[in-house]
Amino acid sequence: MAERWLLTGGSGQVGLALRRNPPPGVDIVAPGRDVLDLSTLIDQGVLELSEFTAVINCAAYTAVDKAETEPAQAHAVNCEAAGMLGIAAAAAGIPIIHVSTDYVFGEGEGPWREDDPIAPFSVYGKTKAAGEMAVKASRARHAIVRTSWVISADGKNFVKTMLRLGAERDVLQVVADQRGTPTYAGDLASALARITARFVADPEQASGVWHFANAGETTWHGLAEQVFACASQHGLKVPTKVEPITTSEYPAPARRPADSRLDFTKIANDFGISPRPWQEAVAEIVARLAGEGQAR
Ligand SMILES: NC(=O)c1ccc[n+]([C@@H]2O[C@H](COP(=O)([O-])OP(=O)(O)OC[C@H]3O[C@@H](n4cnc5c(N)ncnc54)[C@H](OP(=O)(O)O)[C@@H]3O)[C@@H](O)[C@H]2O)c1
Repeated sequence: MAERWLLTGGSGQVGLALRRNPPPGVDIVAPGRDVLDLSTLIDQGVLELSEFTAVINCAAYTAVDKAETEPAQAHAVNCEAAGMLGIAAAAAGIPIIHVSTDYVFGEGEGPWREDDPIAPFSVYGKTKAAGEMAVKASRARHAIVRTSWVISADGKNFVKTMLRLGAERDVLQVVADQRGTPTYAGDLASALARITARFVADPEQASGVWHFANAGETTWHGLAEQVFACASQHGLKVPTKVEPITTSEYPAPARRPADSRLDFTKIANDFGISPRPWQEAVAEIVARLAGEGQAR
């Protein structure tokens, strides 16, 4: 059978990257929310997926702060729909590759390994943790790929927000006491494609959880500094000062982990995936946005 992968979230950062760069010989089918609304998937009965060879679930309710006041909506997409996709994949005998988050971790220090206990603080983190459980319970062959701090030239993300604010203001304050690992959506998409191809080609490939992020670590403040270093190389306006502040000085509705760095030794060992440094990814994104004149 020709390779035909069902992709959810094809309009998001990671889904778009996967659609732009499909592996050779693979037809990626990415129905939008108008065709496949995941918030009501549980009411629609089991999906028929026999025409596909794999499912990649990149869709999610990703508005971390808004989820605090919309827990049912976040749960429907992040947990119920993930479970339904898993059940449909199991019925069709195909694997599901499901994307999850560093925010399933809470108190404690990273880099987090795949088998470290999870204890999410936020509604978003709790619904994503429940989604992982639902995928595992579906009995589909599965890869759960946790990632963190996704950035790209598309959609809404921290790099684009910094470029916009940096063009408007001379002084910015950015949180400097949350540590993490930025992840370029394009690099994650390549990793997902490689994992999916392995699951399709090798029926013996065992299910599991893997972590993927770019190499290295930083804080939001460190990431902002790197964005502005790249932006000034492209002649973009940058702030004169980027002040480090604490999380308590920038209160947000959802509590985030202070340290959500991911350990990705396992993905390197099992799939030969070695991510490049996050600074390279930032440089590529800023160059692309500067070239497109979108970095405002
Ligand atoms: N962004 C991050 O920093 C981050 C960090 C860690 C993990 N992750 C995980 O990485 C994955 C991809 O994230 P991303 O940054 O690419 O997300 P994103 O840019 O926010 O895109 C989310 C995607 O989900 C779709 N979606 C949301 N609700 C839907 C619904 N009810 N029915 C159908 N589609 C729906 C969106 O469609 P519309 O365009 O129609 O809204 C969009 O295509 C997610 O699993 C997320 O939890 C993200």
